Amino acid sequence: MDIRFENAGVDYGLRTALVPLSLALQERRIGVIGLNGSGKTTFARLINGLVKPTTGRIVVDGLDTVGDASEVLGKVGYIFQSPQNQIILPIVRDDIAYGLKARGYDKAQIEVAVDGILDRFGVRHLAARRAHELSGGELQMAALCSVLVTGPDILILDEPTNQLDLRNRALVQKTMATLPENVIVISHDLPLLEDFERVLVFDQGRLVADTSAAEAIARYKEIAA
Ligand SMILES: Nc1ncnc2c1ncn2[C@@H]1O[C@H](COP(=O)(O)OP(=O)(O)O)[C@@H](O)[C@H]1O
Ligand SMILES: [Mg+2]
Repeated sequence: MDIRFENAGVDYGLRTALVPLSLALQERRIGVIGLNGSGKTTFARLINGLVKPTTGRIVVDGLDTVGDASEVLGKVGYIFQSPQNQIILPIVRDDIAYGLKARGYDKAQIEVAVDGILDRFGVRHLAARRAHELSGGELQMAALCSVLVTGPDILILDEPTNQLDLRNRALVQKTMATLPENVIVISHDLPLLEDFERVLVFDQGRLVADTSAAEAIARYKEIAA
């Protein structure tokens, strides 16, 4: 994985959501922290092209997030802050299959891939369930399956443990620890990020720390105080 921000920033009219920044990200697990409204989601959405920079550019493994938008979308999976908003079809199995259908896979290939991803996360029992009836943790796992089944190299999770009870939080934590994909996690759940290789801290749209988890968490606590 090689993500490069080249003086990339975002303004919404007169409001600056992200002050232009330059950095390169290569670590396998990267955390993003900061107060509400500090620019975390804007930063993360720039990486898969959901938000376009108003200055500069972002290059993911050599692909420009604006010029090569569809390839970037295939490379970078994104789990929204509220995963219920990204489930498209009512039944879990159909939702997981959706992205594969859109990519032109045939029925037999889709069956194999969907069963494979359900088994990978040990959630085959969710296949026939209605997505809107799932618990927060189950929904998070279903969203993870729907995104990872298409094989992105990079996975971005926006506050994945926000609405979860302790058991489901532990499940998400364990899952993240074993994912072979590169992960970028936005979170207020600081212990979740403790063993990450690198953590970025945003404050009022500005990147104010880019360091070890321990130092970043200490900096965030100072900002929040
Ligand atoms: N689509 C938008 N239009 C206008 N302002 C936005 C939009 N999205 C985010 N913002 C503003 O940009 C700033 C950063 O937002 P965001 O990246 O969502 O922060 P965070 O994820 O850290 O809570 C906030 O002030 C927010 O109100
Ligand atoms: Mg956010």
